[in-house]
Amino acid sequence: MNMPEELNIGLSNEQRESVGTILSKILGNQHVLYMKMRNYHWNLTGPRFHTLHEFYEKEYDALAKAIDETAERVRMIGGVSPGSMGEMLQLATLDEAEGALIDGSDSIKALVDDHEACIRDLRGAISTIEEDYRDVGTADFLVELLQAHEQSAWMLRSFMS
Ligand SMILES: [Fe+2]
Repeated sequence: MNMPEELNIGLSNEQRESVGTILSKILGNQHVLYMKMRNYHWNLTGPRFHTLHEFYEKEYDALAKAIDETAERVRMIGGVSPGSMGEMLQLATLDEAEGALIDGSDSIKALVDDHEACIRDLRGAISTIEEDYRDVGTADFLVELLQAHEQSAWMLRSFMS
């Protein structure tokens, strides 16, 4: 993590660098999930097209806002945010989905899996950031992200038959 700014906020450069690296990985996964939701919004098939098409649009709009906040959080702690798709893909641990027609149920299952992976990642990230790096501001921000993924996973599960 590139940390060009010297800040006097009670965190060492090393602490800020480690937190910035964790935030960048979260940002990479957010981009993969964002693109996947758009992909499914476009390429959905099946009788629930209209409902899911609209639901995915609301979901990726909310995620776009979270993406912005994550990148800005990197800047707040003095780091430089990754800015290219190449960087995002290198940082991400979620798998991309190529453009292809997809049945509603398959798209729901794939997105629940991704949200659950994000929840697990964030749970680990929050304790590391709180306990090892003492950055309570970022930990608090990540709690909100985790809760948003929990809500999305819950709503998606309600579509499962
Ligand atoms: Fe659209």
